[in-house]
Amino acid sequence: MQNKYNVEQFNSIVQNRRSIYPYQFEKGKKIPDEIIWQILENANRAPTHKLTEPWRFRVFSGEGLQHFADLQTEIYTKYAGEKFKEKKLKNLREYPLMSSHVILIGMKRTSEINIPEIEEIIATACAVENIYLSISAYNLGGYLSTGSITYLEETKRYFDFESTDKIIGIFYVGCIETIANPLSKRQPVKEKVEWISK
Ligand SMILES: Cc1cc2nc3c(=O)[nH]c(=O)nc-3n(C[C@H](O)[C@H](O)[C@H](O)COP(=O)(O)O)c2cc1C
Repeated sequence: MQNKYNVEQFNSIVQNRRSIYPYQFEKGKKIPDEIIWQILENANRAPTHKLTEPWRFRVFSGEGLQHFADLQTEIYTKYAGEKFKEKKLKNLREYPLMSSHVILIGMKRTSEINIPEIEEIIATACAVENIYLSISAYNLGGYLSTGSITYLEETKRYFDFESTDKIIGIFYVGCIETIANPLSKRQPVKEKVEWISK
């Protein structure tokens, strides 16, 4: 069997993928927009049942980062309610400014084609993994942030999503300064596989 691609390299990209947080980014270092576009092109190749392509991206860069920081601190302050935490607010204010680009990822629900919502969430999650693998290949840092504002109904309105859509998360991207965290652990795959061959 002949490989079409460099599979060793691909395996290495997947096996070394990790979440890297904005406080580990090189401050002020910007990633060229063309690279972000390529990462989004890769996200756009995610599998999608009935080709609904439900992923949507709102990208913030340059002065847009401050705009995004302002928006998410406003949303959190107004609507977090009992879940409000000062520490969280601080991160929402500071993380965008530590990043090169911020990508808010949404799932756009298609009403004309009758497919279960979970399939559109799965397709968008596949797009998220393509982003993770792409930044790993480019040796960039990033992670998907959820909670805080992502599950608040009000957030959708701020980013022009309908109530039937979902905000999946916020992907912070930057250049890596330090990798303080080692690769996160996984339990052996064998514990999760049942293999029936006859
Ligand atoms: C759906 C999803 C939501 C996540 N949300 C958060 C989050 O809100 N905060 C956070 O610190 N990490 C979040 N992460 C990143 C995980 O914490 C991270 O993947 C996990 O610690 C394993 O580390 P690794 O990605 O380096 O393997 C999320 C990951 C996924 C897949």
